[in-house]
Amino acid sequence: MPSVFETAPAPSAIPITFATKATWDAIRAGLPAENRQFALANGFAAKPGACLTLPSADGSIRQVLFGLEDETGKSRDLFRPGALPGLLPPGVYRFANAPHDVRLAALAFALGSYRFSRYRKNDLPNVRLVPPDGVDIGDITRIAEATTLARDLINTPSNDMGPEELALAAAELARRFGADFSTIVGDELTRQNFPLIHAVGMASSRAPRLIDLTWGDPGHPKVTLVGKGVCFDTGGLDLKPSSGMLIMKKDMGGAANVLALAQMVMDAKLKLRLRVLIPAVENAVAGNAFRPLDIFPSRKGLTVEIGNTDAEGRLVLADALALACEEKPELLIDMGTLTGAARVALGPDLPPFYTNDETLALDVAAHAKAENDPMWRLPLWPAYDSWLDSKVANINNAPSGGFAGSITCALFLQRFVEDTTRWLHVDIYGWTPSAKPARPEGGECQAARAIYKLLSQRYA
Ligand code: BES
Ligand code: MN
Ligand code: ZN
Repeated sequence: MPSVFETAPAPSAIPITFATKATWDAIRAGLPAENRQFALANGFAAKPGACLTLPSADGSIRQVLFGLEDETGKSRDLFRPGALPGLLPPGVYRFANAPHDVRLAALAFALGSYRFSRYRKNDLPNVRLVPPDGVDIGDITRIAEATTLARDLINTPSNDMGPEELALAAAELARRFGADFSTIVGDELTRQNFPLIHAVGMASSRAPRLIDLTWGDPGHPKVTLVGKGVCFDTGGLDLKPSSGMLIMKKDMGGAANVLALAQMVMDAKLKLRLRVLIPAVENAVAGNAFRPLDIFPSRKGLTVEIGNTDAEGRLVLADALALACEEKPELLIDMGTLTGAARVALGPDLPPFYTNDETLALDVAAHAKAENDPMWRLPLWPAYDSWLDSKVANINNAPSGGFAGSITCALFLQRFVEDTTRWLHVDIYGWTPSAKPARPEGGECQAARAIYKLLSQRYA
């Protein structure tokens, strides 16, 4: 997708004036008389999200008015300007005055220009923006491109985004940034001791695999990202109902997001040694599918009883997390679309995060807020850990009862992470159910932006 930012001089760029209820009177008073009348006739009152193009005498667009929430409003949406690319006629624009947060407004403008156009080269808005003064447009472009990668990967339907295609996307990223790349495919997973990844993926005609990408100076601090890459989640034999299965092409959202994060880290040349691990599988139904109450060994050595084949994400992550810990990274981050319970608790826009490090918790919360990439901490509540007990194996993957489903999933993963490893887990949704400013309906990049900023601060 071409950049939305106009880098050539654009003296005729059309000004966009941001107005709130509080500033509108003064802005209106400064307009030419006929435009003042035009705004009145069109009932423009600077309502948040309202957009009006004001004509010149020759009929061209002289100026755009766009309504924002009041400066102090508690429901202020800093991404509101992300609606503009969908509202404006083709052209080159510039900000005439400052929105509430000019950097986030420019970012929102770029994020709001995204359209999924793989199967229909239609609707890309031909709306460009002159980079606002004082904004690091290189960094915004880097974030927007990574967001496009995550969204495209998620939006691509499962028939064109199986484990192999996901691995190809990771290989392409590795090639672009000179990273080392390898995969372990099919029965080789068993031979190299990844029993859970193999168990979940073996029923699909598309072989499961573990994707392994490494980049950066080996002497730098090790940061490892692990992403759930379930390319389609039927639920396995504990089959999902059709309503629940409908958007399960997005079940590789964790993988898409760690690839987006990796792209930002590598493009910004952060001073860290990056590793990305993605267990890529399809949770399919077939005669050789894994079954309820099957018991498998795991890379960590724990035996795992299958309470539900639909709790597959934590299984594939478990083996990948165990591998990650073997080289003792300074920081281990995993993301995945792991539970419906996370969405029930916090809704689609606010992923819960879990960590065993208090400083990291504060840092994540601060960057999430600053980047408008919200996350909310939930506890690794020790008293619920016993709910994972199995009567016949070391652990069960799906506690009965279903209470605190996102927490018990995090506790399951914690059993596969070394106590001494600093660890962050994010239970993302990876999907925008209905379009909002800067967030078109469909696949979404969540948590990656905030974590990129956190890593930028720690490893500049
Ligand atoms: N991929 C799903 C979780 C999911 C469902 C995310 C819907 C977003 C929207 C995951 O594999 C799953 O099915 N989890 C089960 C776990 C349960 C069986 C313990 C769930 O959340 O119901
Ligand atoms: Mn599932
Ligand atoms: Zn799943």
